[in-house]
Amino acid sequence: MLRDKDIIDEKNPIIHKPSKEVTFPLSDKDRKMINEMIEHLTLSQIPEKAEELNLRPGMGLSAVQIGILKRYFVVVYEYDEGQFENYIIINPRITSESKEMIYVEEGEGCLSINRPTVGIVPRHARITMEGFDMDGNPIKYRVREDVAIAFQHEFDHLNGILFTDRIDPKNPYKDKDKYRSI
Ligand code: NI
Repeated sequence: MLRDKDIIDEKNPIIHKPSKEVTFPLSDKDRKMINEMIEHLTLSQIPEKAEELNLRPGMGLSAVQIGILKRYFVVVYEYDEGQFENYIIINPRITSESKEMIYVEEGEGCLSINRPTVGIVPRHARITMEGFDMDGNPIKYRVREDVAIAFQHEFDHLNGILFTDRIDPKNPYKDKDKYRSI
């Protein structure tokens, strides 16, 4: 089981490195890691479990955040109370994106950033992402709103980019009025 201490902080230089393409078949180690990442995010979003295990709630995790420089991430989305949709995507590519841009009103969060942050990150309201599942089958996700933001945030991690890298410290709410808040 993963704990918060297993998740790399932004102070660790690994978090800023680009990850490498995954080759199939997936190793047992990676398969196990993906399942543990999903378990971690799920437990972190169940308040009693999060409190019991002292987990910070999170919706997405990339392999690099566990110190594995491979191009995969998971997103666990609570679409209804206690109901979760799991997304796993390996070697992802963004194959289409909406013109419309949105941002998280209260600012994004990241399990690798353990300090208060200010500012907003404009993201595409809808994207299509293509990649592979754990068995190497091609998959395509069309996602919108908060899930689309999570996908773009995690995709950035695979290129060593943190959401804070996308915020201008001199003008953290730049062009806010041009985008829709969610
Ligand atoms: Ni993050």
